[in-house]
Amino acid sequence: MHSSFQEKAVIITGSSRGLGKVLAIELGKRGAHVIINGKNPDTLQLAYHELKKLNYDVHAVCADVTKPDECEQLIQYAIQNLGKLDIVINNATLSARGFFEEMSSEVFNKVVQSNIQGAAFPTLKALPYLRKSKGSVVFVSSIAAFLGLPSASAYSIGKMGLTALAQSLKSELSGSGIHVGIAYVGFVRNDPEKTILNSKGEHIKPHNRPAYVEQSQLYVAHNILKMIDRRKYQIILSMPGKFQAFMARIFPQLTMRIINLLLKRSDF
Ligand SMILES: NC(=O)c1ccc[n+]([C@@H]2O[C@H](COP(=O)([O-])OP(=O)(O)OC[C@H]3O[C@@H](n4cnc5c(N)ncnc54)[C@H](OP(=O)(O)O)[C@@H]3O)[C@@H](O)[C@H]2O)c1
Repeated sequence: MHSSFQEKAVIITGSSRGLGKVLAIELGKRGAHVIINGKNPDTLQLAYHELKKLNYDVHAVCADVTKPDECEQLIQYAIQNLGKLDIVINNATLSARGFFEEMSSEVFNKVVQSNIQGAAFPTLKALPYLRKSKGSVVFVSSIAAFLGLPSASAYSIGKMGLTALAQSLKSELSGSGIHVGIAYVGFVRNDPEKTILNSKGEHIKPHNRPAYVEQSQLYVAHNILKMIDRRKYQIILSMPGKFQAFMARIFPQLTMRIINLLLKRSDF
């Protein structure tokens, strides 16, 4: 089967588990050279062996994407080992749950930085090579970018920041041949072992969400790949996401009230 991703050199940040790993598997299946990434070397090695067993061309680079020098190493790995860079998918994230008033400044910093610096720095280091390949840079965002959600202020700030970055880049890079894309993802079925931070920085389980509001990681990954393939700027996954984006733009205060009620009732 021919695929437009055949022989493409791809970096996916935060791909040692979750959606990022599923994106890596789907790209490997389509013949791409895939560089996976994460901070924890053990989790990254497990993912690396899982993809190797599937006979995909996979490479693993342990790097903290909030640090510019580690991003430089990540990008240089691609150039030195694959000779080029075609696609960067900025997927790495840390999320936290808790009221802003109770949040430690360390947790706030970590969550905002993982989303904003964690996408800005890999992109900054990758752009000279994406110019050469006329490649793609993609940001994985969330419906939390449309409205500051209760108990998710730092995460919403991070995801709103990605919108600004994607918009600025789209303007600045017009005519360069580089594709910029942003995917606003709805609720995704998480890995069973996924944890998030609470306001004190302890790892806790995310709330269980009703199955009917969740989309599979595979469905989301397919849509992100379709967006890259068609070089689209923006996708909003899930009907509630589309509705929220529309309502937040036209009736922000009413939407805030509805979301507050919904979140209180179903404890998302
Ligand atoms: N799950 C959802 O319901 C949902 C909904 C909307 C949008 N999204 C978005 O989808 C993306 C993936 O989410 P997910 O639920 O699959 O996440 P996840 O399971 O928590 O995985 C996060 C990944 O990011 C890595 N990571 C975190 N901070 C990093 C850093 N500073 N440097 C390098 N790697 C880092 C983690 O590895 P280490 O721990 O080893 O660093 C891990 O591989 C995120 O952008 C998220 O905001 C998810």
